Amino acid sequence: MAMKCHLKMRKLLTPMSKATLTSFEATWVPRINTYLDESLRTVSDRADLTAAIRYSVLAGGKRLRPLLSLAVLATFDCPITAAELRASSALELLHTYSLIHDDLPAMDNDPLRRGKPTSHVKFGEDLAILAGDALQPLAFQWLADSGLTADQIAQLTLGLALAAGPQGMVAGQVADVKSTGQTLALPELQHLHRRKTGALIHYAVLAGAVQANVSAATRAALLDFGDAFGLAFQIYDDILDVTSTPAEMGKATHKDADEHKNTYPGLLGLDGAQQALKTALTSATAALDRAEAASQTKMDLLASFLTYFTN
Ligand code: IPE
Ligand code: IPE
Ligand code: MG
Ligand code: MG
Ligand code: MG
Repeated sequence: MAMKCHLKMRKLLTPMSKATLTSFEATWVPRINTYLDESLRTVSDRADLTAAIRYSVLAGGKRLRPLLSLAVLATFDCPITAAELRASSALELLHTYSLIHDDLPAMDNDPLRRGKPTSHVKFGEDLAILAGDALQPLAFQWLADSGLTADQIAQLTLGLALAAGPQGMVAGQVADVKSTGQTLALPELQHLHRRKTGALIHYAVLAGAVQANVSAATRAALLDFGDAFGLAFQIYDDILDVTSTPAEMGKATHKDADEHKNTYPGLLGLDGAQQALKTALTSATAALDRAEAASQTKMDLLASFLTYFTN
């Protein structure tokens, strides 16, 4: 039988609180950043490759994906040791590769990322592509030598490969670039978003659930949460492209419409996109209620991640 790290019988159903997320971020973002910084100091014996990798990974970023994995562990009172930190940080490497490649001239052709010139602007396209290429196997290396159990490593390796690869993020990116200039119907657009962005967020939650060794029912509910959160995250990113500034976002905005990208505001208008976001957030909350009931464990920390969308 699946065992949780600790069985916590508590009153069910707590509201989401921004302070809960802020305090979790205040604890863990600096630790993730320090871990990435220290671990990447000698990532390659080539100074140019090391510089390009460090530039993009250490440029900042919300660290949302590792935070989500760690939040699942914290929810179940599981210890977060160097092994869990390494495995969680691996996902940030893979995510950063996806951003470097997403910004390339052949894809979104963006000049700014995380408040700095994009990798290809700073280092040239050749090194940017190769830094992204290097970050992919490095992510799997960090899973393999994380110090987690062999069974956990096998499950995380499979999960990350499925999430990142030709059935996941990359398939979503292909759908994105190949549908640019055509109008997708809503089900296709939702499918695209679930893959290009949702897949890695699904994996973030899966990784936490595997390490916490939760029951099958709890895992299924947590993954439903991750899927709804992932869809909401890309809908919100589409909305922010319309409503915010490069200074606020650290990346170019007001670009998707000009480039005839398929987005929620483009298809449904801003109000329709806000409504779709609300629907996804309602699904996420319902999934957390199911996770709470299945595990008899309070989901207030994961619920607090939904306050990201109320900025
Ligand atoms: C940007 O991801 C790409 C999308 C999937 C929308 P984030 O918004 O998580 O970017 P960082 O990691 O904080 O820079
Ligand atoms: C990016 O979607 C998704 C991935 C990087 C996989 P976007 O192209 O909308 O992300 P931003 O807006 O450039 O961050
Ligand atoms: Mg893109
Ligand atoms: Mg982009
Ligand atoms: Mg975007």
